[in-house]
Amino acid sequence: MARTPVITAGPEEDRSRDAALRPKFLREVIGQTEVARRLAIAVNAAKKLKEPLGHILFDGPPGLGKTTFATVLPNELGTSLQMTSGPALSKPADMLPFLTNLEEGSILFIDEIHRMPRVVEEFLYPAMEDFRIDIVLGEGLNARTISMNLKHFTLIGATTRSGMLSGPMRDRFRMHEHLEFYSVDELSRIVRVNAAKLQTKIADAAAMELAQRCRGTPRIANARLAWVRTYAASETDGDITLEVARAALQMLNVDREGLDKQDRRYLETLIDVFAGGPTGVEAIAATMNLTTDTLSDEVEPYLLREQFVIRTPRGRVATERAFQLLGKKIPRKTAADGEPALFD
Ligand SMILES: Nc1ncnc2c1ncn2[C@@H]1O[C@H](COP(=O)(O)OP(=O)(O)OP(=O)(O)O)[C@@H](O)[C@H]1O
Ligand SMILES: [Mg+2]
Repeated sequence: MARTPVITAGPEEDRSRDAALRPKFLREVIGQTEVARRLAIAVNAAKKLKEPLGHILFDGPPGLGKTTFATVLPNELGTSLQMTSGPALSKPADMLPFLTNLEEGSILFIDEIHRMPRVVEEFLYPAMEDFRIDIVLGEGLNARTISMNLKHFTLIGATTRSGMLSGPMRDRFRMHEHLEFYSVDELSRIVRVNAAKLQTKIADAAAMELAQRCRGTPRIANARLAWVRTYAASETDGDITLEVARAALQMLNVDREGLDKQDRRYLETLIDVFAGGPTGVEAIAATMNLTTDTLSDEVEPYLLREQFVIRTPRGRVATERAFQLLGKKIPRKTAADGEPALFD
């Protein structure tokens, strides 16, 4: 069996590991069943009708498979893929190399599409609608607009915040697919498949343990699997048993619910500084020295889904579950019941 030396993973390694483990075809995608089914139908129809796939927008928290779906689709269609991202497109001219490189039916993927400036967005409208762009040549009185026809292509956009996308942009996508957190069962399948890809033996109970402790997110499952595998190679015979998985996760400070440091800091801030709430997300972000975007895109979705926190008209409120997790005394009446928190 393959053994790996102990290494600490940096962002570079994260990226190459993600790419190596990423499913290549729809049939390899685990979970997101309804999304995958709709995409399979769209792909099938596009092939039969010999039409390009309609533009697709994926949204959802980080690490749930937006890029994965965007890279799977060109494989299914047998076409090429170009990738760019919103922040890299500061002016319409930045789009030109991508638009002129398009082939009939090929896919252009724009990650973080909500961060594209409005001028670029407006430049894209005719491209998306009529496969045409308008280029302004010259300035002032001499300015003239020439129209250029493009190949019929498919735009795939990905965003962690579809709410920040302008209405006209959103309306130009034919399909909107929202990715949700994965079930423990789906994640344990992902862990087992990926352990096999990494030629590592993993006990079912260990895969289940990892699945329960990865915030419902495949990317986190992959990162934790990589660490557990490293730990197993260094400290034992390389096989991942339940004991090995638990010991390795403990070293990462992953708690039994799978929350990480940032999650716990959020809950601690809400409970210790704001007495469990209600308080606005801006106040929590400021206290934690993070941007509100990071909190609401990356930290809160899972905490809200798992009801460690709830949203009320007056702000965020920590639930009993959060108090219990942190081993804090549960107030007699939590603010979640609609009353101010009372401590005895
Ligand atoms: N449905 C899935 N089945 C199996 N593995 C998956 C699935 N979805 C995601 N993964 C794994 O998780 C990794 C991260 O997914 P991906 O990069 O697609 O997330 P993302 O939604 O694009 O995240 P971000 O918002 O950070 O860009 C992938 O490389 C892949 O290994
Ligand atoms: Mg991505």
